[in-house]
Amino acid sequence: MKATQTSFIAMASSSSVKKRTVKPVKSRSDRDLIFGDLWEFDPAPESADPKLKERYDLFIDGKFVAPKGRKYFDSINPANEQKIARIAHGKATDVDAAYKAAKKAFDGGWGTMPGRERAKYIYRIARLLQDRAREFAVAETLDGGKPIKESRDFDVPTAAAHFFYHAGWADKLDYVAPGRKVAPLGVVGQVIPWNFPLLMLAWKIAPALAMGNCIVIKPAETTSITALKLGEILQDAGLPPGVVNIVTGFGDTGSAIMTHPTAAKVAFTGSTEVGKIIMRSIADTDKKMTMELGGKAANIVFDDAPIDQAVEGIVNGIFFNQGHVCCAGSRLLVQESVASQVLRKLENRIKVLRVGDPMDKNTDIGAINSKEQLDKITELVESGVREGAAMFQSACKLPREGYYFKPTVFSNVTMSHRIAQEEIFGPVLSAMTFRTLEEAVEKANNTAFGLSAGVWTDKGSRILKMSTELKAGVVWANTYNKFDPTSPFGGYKESGFGREGGRQGLLDYCKLV
Ligand code: NAI
Ligand code: MG
Repeated sequence: MKATQTSFIAMASSSSVKKRTVKPVKSRSDRDLIFGDLWEFDPAPESADPKLKERYDLFIDGKFVAPKGRKYFDSINPANEQKIARIAHGKATDVDAAYKAAKKAFDGGWGTMPGRERAKYIYRIARLLQDRAREFAVAETLDGGKPIKESRDFDVPTAAAHFFYHAGWADKLDYVAPGRKVAPLGVVGQVIPWNFPLLMLAWKIAPALAMGNCIVIKPAETTSITALKLGEILQDAGLPPGVVNIVTGFGDTGSAIMTHPTAAKVAFTGSTEVGKIIMRSIADTDKKMTMELGGKAANIVFDDAPIDQAVEGIVNGIFFNQGHVCCAGSRLLVQESVASQVLRKLENRIKVLRVGDPMDKNTDIGAINSKEQLDKITELVESGVREGAAMFQSACKLPREGYYFKPTVFSNVTMSHRIAQEEIFGPVLSAMTFRTLEEAVEKANNTAFGLSAGVWTDKGSRILKMSTELKAGVVWANTYNKFDPTSPFGGYKESGFGREGGRQGLLDYCKLV
């Protein structure tokens, strides 16, 4: 907690503080008192111009084109429910046009172009994204509700990093599968969700491009804007027409992309429910598939863990991006001997999380992405109370308009509670205790999912043991939610299959010849 405390005081002195009642720090319990009081800061809104258009068309064959059905839908800002743009609703005929353009681009030379030439385009995309980083961050926050400090410091730079990393691979494809030659698959269809709109786009597009594939992709209906802005960057980068096609719309559009006969491979990130629908719909085809679906990760805190750091890690694990994270540490498993200490510190910490206007640079927790998602979180939290778990919520005031949810910690949770089993996808933590390592492993693995986990302990041997026993694609040790383009990401069980990032991610976009 020391580090946090220091940064808090630094923030207080550099911002304009209206109320400050800080007592001198004497003992550990006094330090906790500081966190009992939320200082009010003056608003610090980000002011860069997101350069939004009133209407966004489909991006097909290198051009922005109106949807054949001439239908558009509204994209709103979930922070205040105001409409910010109209987005084209692409139908099956538009998807078909996109696949035709992609096939033409693939056959026309993108797939056979030397990797070093393809790399130049991908580097250019990365640099152009860096040039427009602030504009993209603001657009992402307006359209999706995430705090500006996250879109600015995480989403946009990490998206650019994915393009840089994969540009670096494009001329080294002989090393993707040592001893074997690789070739692109052809045209791939991709559908992505709303929690990391631009970053998921980069995760999907960058490896496919590096490998020489052409793409038809659909962003989520609530967060299409940064994808279409990236379309502008693709034009500016001189990417040959048809190599990447962006078709916006709803589930019907997504379904048309996933089932199109031209798609040699489909990649999906989203709910397990829709993932299963897609798998059923293409089960009798020879399409390659990768699925990145839900999660119910456990953050596991042993009694020898550095407790203050663990508390920061738990907070980052579940409250980062409003808990709209497939690998969110939505369950806390804490060793019984330190459980009350950890919970007390956690409650003190969430009391001072700033919930509100995502455009404010001080905001920690922004807006929930949509009314539907807010309703889903609310319903699951009500079930937690009804089923007998103890709820703690921060007393923060929520804005009157927009979709917000208070950071929430449940204790006295049992494995059979819905809040311990179902993906909530919101800022809600379900805490349980354990006594032995074996019990921790059993409880952590007692879920239909297997995307990620966190382990907090001083012992390296215990970290190695846990990372072997936990059925999860990623196991973070003494940290949480760390991402890097070089590191493969993906799940076990109902969290899906296939990997994104690193050499392993490239293997999912090629065939061995
Ligand atoms: P969703 O799975 O319906 O949406 C994800 C994407 O799939 C969107 O682009 C959507 O338009 C598209 N889609 C919907 N139906 C489709 C179909 N039949 N065929 C092809 N594409 C289709 O997720 P939703 O409803 O937005 O969220 C529901 C829950 O899913 C969340 O509460 C959360 O628990 C989970 N989720 C998990 C994500 C993850 O990263 N693993 C991301 C988003 C949601
Ligand atoms: Mg929106």
